[in-house]
Amino acid sequence: MRTVTLNNGVEMPIVGFGVYQVPAEQTEQVVDHALETGYRHIDTAASYQNEDAVGRALTNSGIVRDELFVTTKLWIEHAGYDATKAAFGRSLDRLGLDYIDLYLIHQPFNDYYGAWRAMEELLDQGLVRAIGVSNFFPDRLVDLIVHNDVTPVVNQIETHVFHQREDDHQVMGEYGVHHESWGPFAEGRNNMFSNPTLTAIGEGHGKSVGQVVLRWLIQRGVIVIPKSVRPERMRENLEVFDFALTGDEMNRITALDTGASLFFDHRDPAIVSQLAQRHLDV
Ligand SMILES: NC(=O)c1ccc[n+]([C@@H]2O[C@H](COP(=O)([O-])OP(=O)(O)OC[C@H]3O[C@@H](n4cnc5c(N)ncnc54)[C@H](OP(=O)(O)O)[C@@H]3O)[C@@H](O)[C@H]2O)c1
Repeated sequence: MRTVTLNNGVEMPIVGFGVYQVPAEQTEQVVDHALETGYRHIDTAASYQNEDAVGRALTNSGIVRDELFVTTKLWIEHAGYDATKAAFGRSLDRLGLDYIDLYLIHQPFNDYYGAWRAMEELLDQGLVRAIGVSNFFPDRLVDLIVHNDVTPVVNQIETHVFHQREDDHQVMGEYGVHHESWGPFAEGRNNMFSNPTLTAIGEGHGKSVGQVVLRWLIQRGVIVIPKSVRPERMRENLEVFDFALTGDEMNRITALDTGASLFFDHRDPAIVSQLAQRHLDV
């Protein structure tokens, strides 16, 4: 599996497998399939409430620990120094691991500076190999970087053909933060899978729209974590290293950008308030 080298030297597979919205009762089997298909990088979060099922699949796979790359995330209500340490311990237990590869602040809300200081210590203690953030706009990202010791290794943000985030990408590049896409297929919104430009480009390579958009992200150096509960799509989403998009094809895809989220804006006060209402069982 192709990897990127993070700013602390850790190697991260550029393609991973996301488990958001995979029902808890299905997650173990779905992750079993993903691991059988060849994924070694799994992206979960405390807020997905399926870490324990992910953990069972990891354990049952028999794959040696250092071949796996596991990301999980800290939820908003557990920000703050002490709460972060406790939440991290619970995630580690649920995943059945003794370290996590990448721990992310899921949202730029609540006391995430306290969270970051706790995460810097977890890094020092070897309980996590890398720390990063998610859903940070460039201003918040730079503020976190310039006021702390450790620079996040990634910023995981909504990124797909309709919301390409080129300005964010440039700022992340300047600070050595890798761009990681969530929602690489925009969850199929905007009829992405039948978009005429993407379909035509795919036909020229004998590839699906899904493969074209993953390839386009990878050629921009963006880490991708597509989600699918179907084994045939899991395989399809991994088969993106046997073709390349031309400069002209990359430019045609660039022209699809709308510059706007297809989900929600993390700077919208109503969203900040709404996300604060989401409480996990623990
Ligand atoms: N940090 C954050 O705030 C955040 C937010 C959202 C997501 N994420 C992460 O990013 C991951 C991916 O994003 P996402 O799950 O929101 O959406 P996504 O990967 O953009 O899209 C998933 C959807 O596409 C379908 N699909 C997958 N492969 C396909 C293919 N080859 N052809 C046609 N349809 C296909 C899936 O259906 P089937 O399952 O039926 O195949 C599912 O409906 C998540 O799982 C999660 O790990 C993070």
